[in-house]
Amino acid sequence: MRIRQARLEDSAEIALLRRQTIRHVNANDYPEEVIESWSVKVGAQDFRKSADTCKRWVALEKERIIGFCEHNDACELSRMYVHKDHLRKGVGSRLLKVAEASLEKQGCAEINIESTVTAKNFYERNGYKVLQKTTYKEDTKQPIYKMSKKFS
Ligand SMILES: CC(C)(COP(=O)(O)OP(=O)(O)OC[C@H]1O[C@@H](n2cnc3c(N)ncnc32)[C@H](O)[C@@H]1OP(=O)(O)O)[C@@H](O)C(=O)NCCC(=O)NCCS
Repeated sequence: MRIRQARLEDSAEIALLRRQTIRHVNANDYPEEVIESWSVKVGAQDFRKSADTCKRWVALEKERIIGFCEHNDACELSRMYVHKDHLRKGVGSRLLKVAEASLEKQGCAEINIESTVTAKNFYERNGYKVLQKTTYKEDTKQPIYKMSKKFS
């Protein structure tokens, strides 16, 4: 597996991976109608449009994208998704390390994330602490966790 910065031409593959992961993985933790609405909310065009507003990383195996994540310049990490067929093989942790190094280089003292219920253990395992259990901004019923990690 290797990790590189995303390119515009990755957008369709990234969007497909996101949709599949939400439908197969987040579906264990959120109701069906929420999964359906989240999965169609962001498409390839949205990834193309937001490419300049963040640093996005992709994990590749045999030149196929098996995971991605991104961060902005406000020390916020988001959209961490691993392909449903490549879970629990360290892909998410590898992506996280690369994004964290990039944020540290940007001068961040800590990293903030809004984690799904699905990813809470993953982030805790990677050194993040829960600051607050809250709800997703566009859907006040769906639980998420505000979490953070300080650079030591
Ligand atoms: C969260 C996610 C990115 C983790 O990716 P991953 O590549 O499977 O994670 P890793 O293999 O690096 O896992 C590292 C450790 O995190 C923990 N972990 C990962 N997934 C977990 C799960 N579903 N349940 C409990 N612990 C989990 C484990 O301790 C794991 O170590 P282990 O496999 O040796 O036990 C992936 O499950 C995913 O894409 N989830 C859906 C999308 C999502 O909710 N993203 C977060 C948006 S904020």
